[in-house]
Amino acid sequence: MKPNDILTLDILFVGDDGDGIATLGTKTIYVANALPGERVRAVVVDVAKTYAHAVMVAILRCTRSSRTPFCPHCKDCGGCQIQRMDYRAQLSIKRNIVIDSLKSAGVITEDDFVPGVMGCKYQFGFRNKAIFPVAKNTDGEIVAGFYERRSHNIVPIKECRIGINENITIINAIIGHLRIYDIEPYDEATHTGLVRYVMIRKAFDTNQIMVSIVINGDSLPHHNVLIDKLLTITKKRIKSVSLTVNCDNTNRIRGNEVINLYGDGYITEIIDGIKYRISPLAFFQVNTPQTQNLYRLVSDFAALTGNETVFDLYCGVGTIGLFLARNARKVIGVESIAQAVDDAKYNAAINSIYNADFYEGKAEEIIPDLINNQGINADVVIVDPPRKGCDKVLIDSIIKMRPKRLVYVSCDPKSLARDLRILHDNGFKTKYVQPVDMFPHTVHIETVAFIVPLV
Ligand SMILES: C[S@@+](CC[C@H](N)C(=O)[O-])C[C@H]1O[C@@H](n2cnc3c(N)ncnc32)[C@H](O)[C@@H]1O
Repeated sequence: MKPNDILTLDILFVGDDGDGIATLGTKTIYVANALPGERVRAVVVDVAKTYAHAVMVAILRCTRSSRTPFCPHCKDCGGCQIQRMDYRAQLSIKRNIVIDSLKSAGVITEDDFVPGVMGCKYQFGFRNKAIFPVAKNTDGEIVAGFYERRSHNIVPIKECRIGINENITIINAIIGHLRIYDIEPYDEATHTGLVRYVMIRKAFDTNQIMVSIVINGDSLPHHNVLIDKLLTITKKRIKSVSLTVNCDNTNRIRGNEVINLYGDGYITEIIDGIKYRISPLAFFQVNTPQTQNLYRLVSDFAALTGNETVFDLYCGVGTIGLFLARNARKVIGVESIAQAVDDAKYNAAINSIYNADFYEGKAEEIIPDLINNQGINADVVIVDPPRKGCDKVLIDSIIKMRPKRLVYVSCDPKSLARDLRILHDNGFKTKYVQPVDMFPHTVHIETVAFIVPLV
């Protein structure tokens, strides 16, 4: 097999990054946008020893779940990988991803253990945050958009239906500003240039918008002109404009320091009556409408009576902990990003929640200290780690503490399965899991697991 070969392929399943997967001889072939059940004609673009990538040029046999892509950038953009699949089929694929991960770790034996995925009521306009990389294209024009699949080439975006309406207007205004004042975008190859990314985030309940421009420097020329422009085009819905300083010579997006240019430096979202201040560096779930359902599910599993001490680990701006605090005796949140911890403390105060404390640091360092040196234990533990899952030291502490209930919110079925395996090997069992779709049209899936100690 070599580049430019034309193949006829039967797509068997969807891979981790959303590509359709076929096999030919001993090779695995990844075909972007191709769906399981389809027979496609595809041109080989690159070949490695055990696999190859190919681009679909024709669909020779359709599946019943296929539909016309809704996005004009579908072919190139690396997002919304399974948008050619109708929503019901997307949910079914995601359930299978959870089943496969849990089965291969030996956490479950029966498919029936995993119920259907809790789908999203809104499959468009649900995403409250977008990060647009900025660069020069090969013609020397400044562009912003999303990365192509498996590359750092930018696909300039004219439309993105999963995001908020204001995204494109705001990004165009920022690109216009860079062009007028000859401000250089960042160049990854030479580590020169100023503007790296633009993050836009919106609080759906309050309609407030935040813009943070990630820069390789410490100031943006003529920023006041840009702020006036942004306020005008959004009819003053922008409540915060800031610069995030990131001078690292890496692909990392988030900087460490925020320079506030306009507003108080945050926006406020409201979920189930609780107000959450969100600062530029803090994590917040990207699908606002579905977040309420996610937290209600966590609350159901936590089954609080008012007498429990709850650990909310990897707590972000205190979201889950404050959601639960109304029914708990005490909540203790732990989060590694300082700005998010400040938000969490502030959020407790503005919601008149006095039974929640928040600690800044790594959960795997703070929790052993609380348990071993301060004698603080939890009846109920909530963990909501990043994709890599929980640190082993933290899991060992939880095993030793033996809480009555553990609720694990996971955005990666593989790391969830690994961590559940460890818990199962150490006297715990998973009673229920519930996949929740926070990311329609992608292969990503959130799963909430409810775990109890064996008696
Ligand atoms: C998936 S987010 C969950 C946030 C929050 N529970 C929510 O629903 O908004 C994971 C959070 O863990 C934080 N984090 C990452 N590693 C950590 C660690 N070792 N200890 C504590 N927090 C960590 C991240 O900064 C992020 O805020």
